[in-house]
This record gives sequence, C-alpha cells and structure tokens, in this order.
Amino acid sequence: MTSDPPTTADPAGTSTSDAQAFYGRWARLYDALARYTPGIARVRTHAATALRLEPGDTVVEMGCGTGANLPYLRERVGPEGTVIGIDYTREMLDAANDLVGEYDNVHLIHGDATARPLAAVKDEEPVEQHEIDAVLATFVVGMLDDPAAAVDGWCDQLADGGHLVLVNAARSDRWYGAPLNALFRAVVVLSTPPTTKLRYETDPHGTLDRRIVRAHDALRDRASETTEATFAGGIVRLTGGQIRR
Ligand SMILES: C[S@@+](CC[C@H](N)C(=O)[O-])C[C@H]1O[C@@H](n2cnc3c(N)ncnc32)[C@H](O)[C@@H]1O
Repeated sequence: MTSDPPTTADPAGTSTSDAQAFYGRWARLYDALARYTPGIARVRTHAATALRLEPGDTVVEMGCGTGANLPYLRERVGPEGTVIGIDYTREMLDAANDLVGEYDNVHLIHGDATARPLAAVKDEEPVEQHEIDAVLATFVVGMLDDPAAAVDGWCDQLADGGHLVLVNAARSDRWYGAPLNALFRAVVVLSTPPTTKLRYETDPHGTLDRRIVRAHDALRDRASETTEATFAGGIVRLTGGQIRR
C-alpha cells in the first residue's frame, strides 16, 4: 500500500534532491545489494529482534529504501500489527511496494523521515492514528546533516518504553580492519550521492563516521537500556535502546 507524496515530502535543498536522484537511478541495483549481500540477512534479523516487537505493535522504518527490512518487521508484528516505511525517494518505494505491496498492514509513505512530528510526513492516517512502539533506521543516519537531532525527534515520538534501533556501516577499529576499511572507503565513494559533497571530500568516510557516532551517541544518551552488536568485522554497528519518559 503506497501513499502519494504529501506537500512536505520534497524537502527544499539541492542535496536532498540530488540524493533522491542518486537513489532513484540505482534503486534496483541497491535492492539486490540490500537483500542479497552475504551476511546482510543476519544483520536485518538481529535489528528486527532488537526492536523487541510484539504481535499487534506499530513499527516505523525511517528511510526504508527498497523495503529489505519490512518482511522481517511484518513477521514480528503479525497481521494485526502495523508496519510503516518512510522514504523520500519514489523509486526506492516502488521497489519496496513490489516486495510488500500485498500486505494491507504495511504502509509506504513518500516523505521526509526527519519531519517532526512524524504525522507531518502525511496529514492523514496511518502515522498519526497509531502509537509508535518501535523505530528502525538502517544505513540512513550517515546521510543526515544533523543525525543527533533526528534521533532525538524519533525518540520523542516513541511510546513510553518503545525501542529505537540504528544500524550503520562505519570504519572498523579492529586490528585486522585495514583491508575492510579500504573496501569500505571504496563503497562509500561509489555509493554516496555526490551532492552530499562526501564523495569529493578527502575523507568521505570520516564525515560518515562522525555522523554515525553522533547518532548512536544520541540514542545512548536517551535510552534507559541499550543493546550493542557489530557485524562484518566491526564495519556494521547496531545500537538499540529503550526510551522511557
Ligand atoms: C542506504 S539507503 C538504506 C535503505 C534501507 N534502510 C536499507 O537498510 O536497505 C538510504 C535510504 O534513506 C533514504 N533517506 C535518506 N534521508 C532521508 C530522509 N530525510 N527522509 C526519508 N528518506 C531518507 C534514501 O532515499 C534511501 O532510500
């Protein structure tokens, strides 16, 4: 089930439009990577588990892309739960719709995941109709200019005791991390929308790393209880937290 873009869906700013153009152009290739990269299913399973979902819950995925996490989320909340995926790139949502369009409790919304309150991304149901039990953002906060503010906004919109889980790829700090980091740098340069300017910086993954650290630290600051995990030699990091009022 896909919703039309709301008026707030096309945030001003050239870098956002260019990021959308980038992901729009590569949506189908991205989808293959997002679903079939060796080891990625384990990361997505772990992320879904860290959300501590119960049947009937409402979970929102920020920057859901081509929907690779959505089947895992839907499986956990069951047919009586609600899954909402938000993304500002139409072509990514089209691919997500191919994956989960058959489920009437999975809603895809074309909008800005940093809009605050979340209901502003769409001025009708489903977002404002549901208390949000959990929020997931995988491989997204590195794209945000102010990742800590986005994390704060997501925490503010969770129900008391709700969970937020962040998953990101960043440089490994393990002793054997050098070759992995070289590979990671190449992936960052190739996969980063040029308009974020990261691609042309001398240290593009340094900027990504700093954004990711800020986002994960912001979650740790807000959470009463956290869970941490790493995958792929330390390159993929997961932080989950429970948010109490
Ligand atoms: C690297 S992809 C990750 C997609 C998905 N979460 C995954 O794990 O495969 C980043 C996605 O975030 C989306 N995105 C980035 N910033 C956004 C924002 N402020 N609002 C909505 N979507 C955003 C992009 O359009 C893109 O689909």
